[in-house]
Amino acid sequence: MTDTPQFTRDGAGNLDQTLRPNSWEEYIGQAKTKENLRILLTAARERGHAAEHVLLYGPPGLGKTTLAHLIAKTLGTNMRTTSGPAIERVGDLAAILTNLSPGDVLFIDEIHRLSKSIEEVLYPAMESGVLDIIIGKGPSARTVQLELPPFTLVAATTRISLLSSPLRSRFSGGTFRLEFYTDDELARILHRSAELLEVPTTNELLLGIARRCRATPRTANYLLKRCRDLAQLEGVALDKTIIDRTFELLEIDTLGLNAPDRTVLTTIVEKFGGGPVGLNTIAAATGEEQSTIEDVIEPYLIRQGLLERTPRGRVASPEAYSHLENS
Ligand code: ADE
Repeated sequence: MTDTPQFTRDGAGNLDQTLRPNSWEEYIGQAKTKENLRILLTAARERGHAAEHVLLYGPPGLGKTTLAHLIAKTLGTNMRTTSGPAIERVGDLAAILTNLSPGDVLFIDEIHRLSKSIEEVLYPAMESGVLDIIIGKGPSARTVQLELPPFTLVAATTRISLLSSPLRSRFSGGTFRLEFYTDDELARILHRSAELLEVPTTNELLLGIARRCRATPRTANYLLKRCRDLAQLEGVALDKTIIDRTFELLEIDTLGLNAPDRTVLTTIVEKFGGGPVGLNTIAAATGEEQSTIEDVIEPYLIRQGLLERTPRGRVASPEAYSHLENS
């Protein structure tokens, strides 16, 4: 007999799909966006039309992909998924668009990374449902117009400011900003995840994780899974000691800041006298990409009242000083 483990999908990336909500009832938070989408989608479905195009934006991990799945489900259609950087040539986009079935949802993640030439093919596709293809080169080149099946583009971005205004204006169904979650919403998300993972917990323990997950469901679920791992290895039930030790191992502090968050804050305070300091200077001093600082790190620091964006640069708040002193 060997004790080779029998691996199941639970250990693979599929776990995140298991935790993803399958219905609007299971999708917690983002009440305004949910309500507006429900009206848009239900009305389009009743009319038997493809829904208008929708743009979702906000920091990573707040549920943009999950919403896209729910949109397709509500419309009763299939969803094709791709991303800005994956569409390298006009031909790639043409292949995707011409293979859609009528009413399908096309989900383009990270749409801000689409190249200009591809954006220009997308405009008429979004607006008039046609694809303009240039065949040949030089004087003999000609344009062929292909009619596309009606479709709904659901696009997601963490950087709405990088989208050109012609592209932004073509999301006629609406542009929705996803918000950070409250502790209570996160505890409810974690309650469902703990049930699916078959981890016995209490509301109090779940709130303990909710308060330190950067107000982000993806991080909350990740932390719950890491707490479960440690409890399993120690052969004990999930309790406060296990949670505290997991957070310590992952270097997450009492406000939910992780190591890169603290590096940025400490750099502003210690190297630049608390600011104002420019984004590119912070990036050079910390070794983090500017886009990571802007899209991932800063939004949470700002939400926690630790950092301010001013016209002259980033400034650490008095709360930042007291937090760094006490942790
Ligand atoms: N998982 C990720 N986002 C969620 C949400 N908004 N509600 C429930 N579960 C989620």
